[in-house]
Amino acid sequence: MNLLFELNHSLIGFFLLILLSCAPPPQSTPQSSCEWCGAQDAPAELTCCITIPPADEPGEPLHIEGRVFLPDGITPAQGILLYVYHTNQEGIYPKRGNETGNGRRHGYLRGWMRTDANGHYAFRTIKPAPYPSHNEPAHIHLTIAGPDRAEDWMDSYVFEGDPLMRDKDRVLHRSGGDVPELVLVKDADGVWQGKRDIVLKE
Ligand SMILES: [Fe+2]
Repeated sequence: MNLLFELNHSLIGFFLLILLSCAPPPQSTPQSSCEWCGAQDAPAELTCCITIPPADEPGEPLHIEGRVFLPDGITPAQGILLYVYHTNQEGIYPKRGNETGNGRRHGYLRGWMRTDANGHYAFRTIKPAPYPSHNEPAHIHLTIAGPDRAEDWMDSYVFEGDPLMRDKDRVLHRSGGDVPELVLVKDADGVWQGKRDIVLKE
C-alpha cells in the first residue's frame, strides 16, 4: 500500500514537472489573440497629443491631428482612446526585443492618445514607408476604444499621391464618415502636416 502511495506521488510529481517545463515563461502583459488590438497595452495616463518615435528615429517628420465626434457628427467625443502603429522608413515594424503585449507584433513605433474636451487628438511621428514587398501603400494603423466602446479598428491612414495606392485604398471600408486618405502639406519647418476628423459609429 505504501509503495502504491509513493508511486502515485512520484507519478504526480513527474507530470507536474512536465507541465511546468512546458508552460510559457511569465510575461508582463499578455499578447492578445487580437492581432490589431492595442488598447490593452495603453499606459494608465494618456494625453491628447503625443510624440511617438525616439528623437534619433530616421525619417521625415510627420504630424497628424484631428477631432473625434459622436455619431451626430457635431458633438466632440471626449475621452476616446486612439491607438496607432506603423512601419519605419524601411517599411518594417521595428522591434527592440523588449516589447510587451502586442508591441511584439506592432513594434515600438506605436502610441496612445485620449481625446480632450474638444475631441482633439494629435501625434507626431515619422512618415512610414510601404512594406518592402510594395504590396500595399504606406499606412498607419488606427484603432479606437472606450470609455463605453469596445476597441474597434478603423481604416488606416493612407497618403494622397502614394504610387501604391489602389482604388480600394481610397474608399472607406468602415462607416463613420472619416476620410483615411491624407493630403500632406510640408510646413516651413519641413514637417509633413495631415488632418483627419473621425465620426464614431452608432
Ligand atoms: Fe500594416
